[in-house]
Amino acid sequence: MLPKRRRERVGSPVGAFAASALPSVRFPDVAIYLAEPRMGRSRRAFLSRLARSKGFRVLDTCSPEVTHVVMEQTSAEEAQRWQEARTASGPAPPVLLDISWFTESMAAGQPVSVERRHRLEVTASRDSPPGPSQMPVYACQRPTPLLHHNTHLSEALETLAEAAGFEGSEGRLLSFRRAASVLRALPGPVTALSQLQGLPYLGGHSFRVVQELLEHGVCEEVERIQSSDRYQTMKLFTQVFGVGVKTANRWYQEGLRTLDDLRKQSQRLTRQQRAGLQYHQDLSTPVQRPDAEALQQVVEVAVRQTLPGATVTLTGGFRRGKLQGHDVDLLISHPEEGQEVGLLPQLLLRLQDQGLLMYQQYQRGGEPSHIVRQGHTMDAFERSFCIFRLPQPPGAWKAVRVDLVVVPISQFPFALLGWTGSQLFERELRRFSHQERGLRLTSQGLFDPEQKRVFHATSEEDIFRHLGLKYLPPEQRNA
Ligand code: UTP
Ligand code: MN
Repeated sequence: MLPKRRRERVGSPVGAFAASALPSVRFPDVAIYLAEPRMGRSRRAFLSRLARSKGFRVLDTCSPEVTHVVMEQTSAEEAQRWQEARTASGPAPPVLLDISWFTESMAAGQPVSVERRHRLEVTASRDSPPGPSQMPVYACQRPTPLLHHNTHLSEALETLAEAAGFEGSEGRLLSFRRAASVLRALPGPVTALSQLQGLPYLGGHSFRVVQELLEHGVCEEVERIQSSDRYQTMKLFTQVFGVGVKTANRWYQEGLRTLDDLRKQSQRLTRQQRAGLQYHQDLSTPVQRPDAEALQQVVEVAVRQTLPGATVTLTGGFRRGKLQGHDVDLLISHPEEGQEVGLLPQLLLRLQDQGLLMYQQYQRGGEPSHIVRQGHTMDAFERSFCIFRLPQPPGAWKAVRVDLVVVPISQFPFALLGWTGSQLFERELRRFSHQERGLRLTSQGLFDPEQKRVFHATSEEDIFRHLGLKYLPPEQRNA
């Protein structure tokens, strides 16, 4: 017999994940069976390899040896029925467990002890409504509707998040934004501080803000920020198309305060920023849903004339049910992979000829972003940042920001998921994928860095399933 260290390396081209190089069983008392129905075959295979690579024993059939049955997205009632339908059971029936036991065990590198919260068993307490301790930590694990019960509180926290962003404090921005998002996910209004107990991200600073709002109706810090020269100027500048926090800050430090100040420095501005200033009044007026739908149709007609069979999908906030937004996000695809190549330049020419484009900035596609480098957020789709001329009766028109993004059909579900937002939802989804599943999610794909493998999906549901998340429709992604 080979010594353990050498045996682990034998025939393993992709590291510990390869089935041919399993480490020996480290926990002989635990035999896991992953029940497939809600899990899906590929995820089950993935989880089995993961567990085996960590020395867990995973059985492919539910034999009497099995001690731990793990299920995903399965109610206790369903689990019970599933078990009753099995005939073969050993001296002691296996314990029925939720996937949380499995993921915690993987994280710990050993089987964690079975707690009550892991068990799928029918008890009276399961029927009681979820309390704060049931609020999941990641925004992608819970539904967040557009209309909620804590607007006053969440808006105050969003202002603090925004202001933190202006100062470059990414960490503070995130904690305020996550706290605001938790409040939006609550089933009712917060009227007493005790309701915050056990809620994620609602300690410290955010707690004090809510406390002040509950006690006085206003928060001194929020009021002070909103009326400050710094906040108002940064807000004004960053709202200009093509201006980010860094540029806005530089201008602020130079003493610039108004849009006219910027216009006087026109030679320093990019072409995008000049267009942003030129159409500022229109672009800072929210786009209404009927306008977004009209623009989708205009683009759809031009797309079909350019490439029959191609599709145009409205994403972004409008897909989440918002009635207005700052721009219109359109994904263009074709049911046959490869047909979309070369479409965008032709489409832009056509729109230009029709007098519909006031501005456009074409960006070539690149390598799929999950291969490029970690932390790279801009996706690599071929796209165009546009300003459209939208006719408004009678005889008038309005400038509207539109993003056109061309997506090969094989990446479409990822692009749809990535562009539907909200921004925090996307951020949390990527963080969840990375921290809880060891996978890298982008708008182009889901990538397993250990296995060096991409996961194929034909729908958004597929992606949620593969991540072990309950599916959330777009209207519930308003995190
Ligand atoms: P938006 O910034 O348009 O947000 O990005 P929104 O939710 O539609 O909000 P409004 O109503 O226009 O203000 C939409 C989604 O597209 C993603 C963002 O992460 C967001 O989730 N996105 C945006 C990208 O993936 N890449 C980009 O370059 C821009
Ligand atoms: Mn948008």
